[in-house]
Amino acid sequence: MNSVESFRYLQREVTEWRRYLHENPELDYRLQNTARFVTDKLGSFGINHIETGIAETGIVALIHGKGGMGSTIGLRADMDALPIIEASNKSWSSRIPGHMHACGHDGHTAMLLGAAKYLAATRNFRGSVALIFQPAEEVELPSGALRMVQEGIMDRFNISRVFGMHIQPGLEVGKFGICHGPIMGSQDDFDIVIKGKGGHAAEPHQGIDPVVIAAQIILGLQTLVSRRTDPLESLVISVTKLNAAQAYNIIPGQVEISGTVRTLSSGLQDFAEREILAGAQGIARAFGADVDFKYLRSVPATFNHPEETNLAVTAARNLVGSASVNESVRISMGAEDFAYMLEARSGAYILLGNGPTANCHNPAFDFNDDALPYGIGYWANLVETVLAV
Ligand code: NI
Repeated sequence: MNSVESFRYLQREVTEWRRYLHENPELDYRLQNTARFVTDKLGSFGINHIETGIAETGIVALIHGKGGMGSTIGLRADMDALPIIEASNKSWSSRIPGHMHACGHDGHTAMLLGAAKYLAATRNFRGSVALIFQPAEEVELPSGALRMVQEGIMDRFNISRVFGMHIQPGLEVGKFGICHGPIMGSQDDFDIVIKGKGGHAAEPHQGIDPVVIAAQIILGLQTLVSRRTDPLESLVISVTKLNAAQAYNIIPGQVEISGTVRTLSSGLQDFAEREILAGAQGIARAFGADVDFKYLRSVPATFNHPEETNLAVTAARNLVGSASVNESVRISMGAEDFAYMLEARSGAYILLGNGPTANCHNPAFDFNDDALPYGIGYWANLVETVLAV
């Protein structure tokens, strides 16, 4: 079990990789250059079991320990960038206008490569490590983690546990945050079309005004949170889009409402899906209108399993000391598609301090290279903890 000093020898090289990836961001599943870069590096470490082309540009590589037979654990890094115009003013800023690594996935990829180099050289563990390089974390369904699971990586590579990590702006470099149970929220989206009867704005009694009905529904939805949900549970319903008529003097025939739902449990996802429809229908019918309803389940909540969370805490503590590992970090209602891997296998997701930088998805964001040896060291310690010789 090693402190962070044991991994500093990798910092310069991994920083070069990270900045190369930052300069060359690619989006969603179209990560041809990134995947080639990762595959070349893995090959240069003497790793010969590399499978490419999973979920288009995803990669799984296996490193076998020298400590004999044992299980296989998965370590996952996401590789995709975002459609954002970069404003970080770094000399390694994006060379591709409108593409940017604004969520640290360049760092995630570089850190897992750094860990791969260390693990392939040392192999001080039993069993095997599956390095999972994932495309398309940032896209709507089906996202990269889901597709890699659907393409059978957990069974095919015999993965018994799976671990993820994400950079966290605002958390000091060298610190880790994790919690037991849910750590990130689910994400579902919905569309409601209210079908009334349009007409002249001066004669509302001749029609059925869907704008007034929409107003009632929007307010009604908030009572699902405030009056129908256990106050100790978390549910967010945000109406984010509203489409009606284009003129002062027309009552539209229909109004479209769209929004998003965030929770920490699948039970509340079921509740929201059922009750948003029931509420919208009930209100619309009271006014003589009807609704069309679509509910799209995007990402489940990211759920940290008890035993694996303890293993993650142990690995991080051995790297940086107990005082630098917060075991009850605040839950985020943002969504993370690693949740699909945690539905398929037990595991844990940890946050790594990026220091006082701009937030993720902000044009000024940049991954903090000082965090690299901490991420590499966490992966290495985790492997040597979970698969201890
Ligand atoms: Ni991200």
